[in-house]
Amino acid sequence: MSMLAVFNQKGGVGKTTTAFNLAAAMRRDNVHPLMIDLDPQCHLTMLSGAQTQLGTSLYGFYKGEKYLTDLIQQLPNGLNLIPSHIELCKIDMLLGKETKIATKLKHAIHDEMLATPDMPIIMDCCPMLGVLSVNAIVASERVLVPVAADFLSYQGAVQLTNTLQGLEAVLKRPIKRRYVLTRFNERRKFVKDIIGKLQDTFGDDLCQTRIHESASLAEALACGKDVFSYNPASRAAKDYANLFDELVSSGFLPIGD
Ligand SMILES: Nc1ncnc2c1ncn2[C@@H]1O[C@H](COP(=O)(O)OP(=O)(O)OP(=O)(O)O)[C@@H](O)[C@H]1O
Ligand SMILES: [Mg+2]
Repeated sequence: MSMLAVFNQKGGVGKTTTAFNLAAAMRRDNVHPLMIDLDPQCHLTMLSGAQTQLGTSLYGFYKGEKYLTDLIQQLPNGLNLIPSHIELCKIDMLLGKETKIATKLKHAIHDEMLATPDMPIIMDCCPMLGVLSVNAIVASERVLVPVAADFLSYQGAVQLTNTLQGLEAVLKRPIKRRYVLTRFNERRKFVKDIIGKLQDTFGDDLCQTRIHESASLAEALACGKDVFSYNPASRAAKDYANLFDELVSSGFLPIGD
């Protein structure tokens, strides 16, 4: 099944930007993904211009009141979204001790036959490994880790790798991952050094594609658009198109499985 969690415990590294624009990159190929916003900050929901009310958000699913299917909103831009809600920040406290909570999303996606070739799932996670992020990782078994081109982000990516290894030991199955460099600006002096460290540490798990620091991207987000709608000729649009192609051609993202 085609599912992907976009996750990094470090904040502000481009998770939401990547989830949103990767979904838009799929749409060019007539694939209309389902984005699931698992972040109580609701950034993906806000960007998508979707409604976010408690009962019609992912919260309804975690409270056992709604099927995932009931929560899907079809957006005017051709994408689909299950919105988040700020109340999701209570999920760890409310459900953290429930047995089998880690597999709740995985089982629902399977039972409701979501994640089809025509509608792969992209999950945007919050910058914390709690119930929601674990649900996304367990469901998808595939994590895309955006890493901003600075030293602390590199350190964060190393820490995250340790976290994922710990999770693999608990799950007794591998979690596939790819690391993608974001906010890349070749004119910054230390960037070569960061890239060298990333290559040494992550090897083939580091995407060849780099997402450049881009004014178009920030402007597009500011008006609630993906970069393909805002400026299809921009470097950022090419970067996200290349990232999608690389994830598919390398077999990491099995579109059509
Ligand atoms: N390649 C880029 N070029 C320019 N600005 C970018 C780029 N990627 C992200 N940004 C900007 O950086 C900020 C943080 O990005 P984003 O919200 O995607 O990060 P995040 O990892 O989802 O954050 P959080 O951890 O809070 O969820 C946003 O204002 C976004 O517009
Ligand atoms: Mg985010």
